[in-house]
Amino acid sequence: MRGKTVLITGGAGFIGSNLARSLSDSNRVIVLDNLSTGTLANLAGVDVKFIKGNVLNKALVERVCKQVDYVFHLAAMTSVVQSVEEPERCYKLNLLATLSILDSCVKHGIKKFVFTSSAAVYGNSPKLPKREDMLPMPISPYAASKLGVEHACIVYNYLYRLNFVCLRVFNVYGPRQDPSNQYSGVISKFMQAALSNKPLIIYGDGTQTRDFVYVVDVVDALQRAATARVNGVFNIATGNATPIQRLAKLVIKLTGSKSSIKHLPRREGDVRASRASIAKAKRLLGWKPKIGLEQGLGYTIEWFKTKA
Ligand SMILES: NC(=O)c1ccc[n+]([C@@H]2O[C@H](COP(=O)([O-])OP(=O)(O)OC[C@H]3O[C@@H](n4cnc5c(N)ncnc54)[C@H](O)[C@@H]3O)[C@@H](O)[C@H]2O)c1
Repeated sequence: MRGKTVLITGGAGFIGSNLARSLSDSNRVIVLDNLSTGTLANLAGVDVKFIKGNVLNKALVERVCKQVDYVFHLAAMTSVVQSVEEPERCYKLNLLATLSILDSCVKHGIKKFVFTSSAAVYGNSPKLPKREDMLPMPISPYAASKLGVEHACIVYNYLYRLNFVCLRVFNVYGPRQDPSNQYSGVISKFMQAALSNKPLIIYGDGTQTRDFVYVVDVVDALQRAATARVNGVFNIATGNATPIQRLAKLVIKLTGSKSSIKHLPRREGDVRASRASIAKAKRLLGWKPKIGLEQGLGYTIEWFKTKA
């Protein structure tokens, strides 16, 4: 994408700031973020117009959408645990605010609405790999809100011809992922622990698996989603299942850490196994992941070391 004006909601967060960094080279980027979990440090040295504001502010969203060609909507309550504790807040932010953004997109003839959905929509269905045509089984307000937006996009496309892509993103890792709160991604937590020689905590026996995808590959998928002449829902992952025990050992090896691995009881609601089929994204978005787990962990370790 070149010479366009794009809005990134949540652009000061982990994935959003990596996207802003990439798009700002050849596009005008507007970031709308209330800095609730994101930081301005994530955007240091990136040429963007930053607006500190809430996506729940309809008038503001409307004003910004008027100026842009594409909308990447990433701002959200991102924690499953928090969504269980505060379901109403979750639906308000993740679903209702998104409906207003969709209205503004229709009103101002946005070329494409790109949304970060989540692997969480598959819930606990035991079937692997997860394919987009499976029946979703959301088991948290977070997952239900993401699925609600997917369905709303289908309706806006049907009624108003709004072009959209929803990416069901699996477990993302890489530079600028914040390890500091209880909800943070496991890789950022392992990195932080390993680099300070503290124990790596695994909930359960560690045989549970996740499909980890490097943030630069996700950024590539978001950009292809915007420009591909296709609407729909796509898995974004690698198609590889990594057991958490193996991940912990790999992080310890690659960091040269003296950390041990400590097991705590399994957490209620934790999915046992996760692995995606990425055939649809390959076929219709022309996308495939380029960074393998060891390589991506290497880049991430380098970044964490600069922060230490
Ligand atoms: N990280 C992952 O593994 C993963 C996996 C699947 C889906 N996703 C989705 O990708 C998106 C980005 O996730 P992330 O990991 O970068 O999280 P993040 O918390 O780093 O980024 C979210 C950003 O949204 C901003 N934000 C939150 N509420 C806002 C509001 N009301 N108004 C304006 N800005 C607001 C935050 O300040 C933050 O900068 C989210 O929609 C998340 O659900 C992430």
